Amino acid sequence: MYAQMVKSEGMKSREEMSPEEQAFQDRIDRGEKIEPKDWMPEGYRKTLVRQIGQHAHSEIVGQLPEGNWITRAPSLERKAILLAKVQDEAGHGLYLYSAAETLGVSRDDLMEKLHDGRMKYSSIFNYPTLNWADMGAVGWLVDGAAIMNQVPLQRTSFGPYSRAMIRICKEESFHQRQGYSIMMKMAFGTPEQKEMAQDALNRFWYPSLMMFGPSDKDSVHSAQSMAWKIKINTNDELRQKFVDQTVPQAKYLGLSIPDENLAWNEEKGGYDFSEPDWSEFFEVIKGNGPCNRERIEARRKAWYDGEWFRDGLAAHGEKEARRAKAPVAAAE
Ligand code: 3HC
Repeated sequence: MYAQMVKSEGMKSREEMSPEEQAFQDRIDRGEKIEPKDWMPEGYRKTLVRQIGQHAHSEIVGQLPEGNWITRAPSLERKAILLAKVQDEAGHGLYLYSAAETLGVSRDDLMEKLHDGRMKYSSIFNYPTLNWADMGAVGWLVDGAAIMNQVPLQRTSFGPYSRAMIRICKEESFHQRQGYSIMMKMAFGTPEQKEMAQDALNRFWYPSLMMFGPSDKDSVHSAQSMAWKIKINTNDELRQKFVDQTVPQAKYLGLSIPDENLAWNEEKGGYDFSEPDWSEFFEVIKGNGPCNRERIEARRKAWYDGEWFRDGLAAHGEKEARRAKAPVAAAE
């Protein structure tokens, strides 16, 4: 199951490193946190901007599939819970964009790269949410996978990213819990509700497995990201942990995982399971998923509709800065 990782492009052996790069790697190996003002290899900075920026984009684009259901929630309580969750995601994006900005990039630049396809967001958000059961599946599976992926990132080597992750992980468990409680309500509800819950699990299972990234043998960044402790576990390790944790939860709901090869492997101490359709995954991250166009259009519209507000804030900030510098008039 754990295929070998490929060597990342440009990855150096210790002998090939400059004295500065060796000293930096020693700091990483000692488990030290790297702060924005510390010396770092340009490749380390670039990898962080890519990963943190795409992580932030995922939070913001991830609001869209669920935002679509706030006005259609079946009760005031469910509406309030979903509203709180979607608002949390905006805050997660804020923490992460702020962490990325400590590396010398601007929010505007990151947004432009999202809008023109030069930066990605998580593949999962390119799938449609068709009914209320999908709100359960998204909370349970998508936030469950995000938690599996984000908890180790609390120990990532870059200080601002690690601190953002600690803050975000505190809120994620509520996200997963509210999703699972929707699934419980439906799985233990009427036969029609149980059928909706099963259908949502069928549609979100494989896209949730894809969230962890391609298998290790196709992961171009993992080897270098793990050497720099930007990434703590490989994609396949976290995917396996997610499957092992989720299968018993589905069993409790009386729902079946849509994978006829799913079987407990005593020797490995985990489940054997079918890989997702990687050709579908690469198509989706190339921009050809069911909702890519709609998601980017919505983000572009939100960004440009809000331009007047950002310009107003910036103008006010400049005025305040001028006032602070203005010489204080001599007392009469
Ligand atoms: N969706 C979109 N692109 C993906 C992807 C996914 N699920 N998995 C991998 N990719 C992309 C990578 O970004 C990379 O492309 P790039 O060079 O253009 O950036 C390429 O596929 C190769 O993948 P690698 O495994 O080599 O890339 P990474 O080492 O970066 O691993 C990752 C991918 C595991 C997603 C890693 O970037 C990561 O852990 N990121 C931080 C966590 C994150 O972004 N999670 C997304 C979910 S957040 C969320 O869901 C919000 C929650 O509140 C609901």
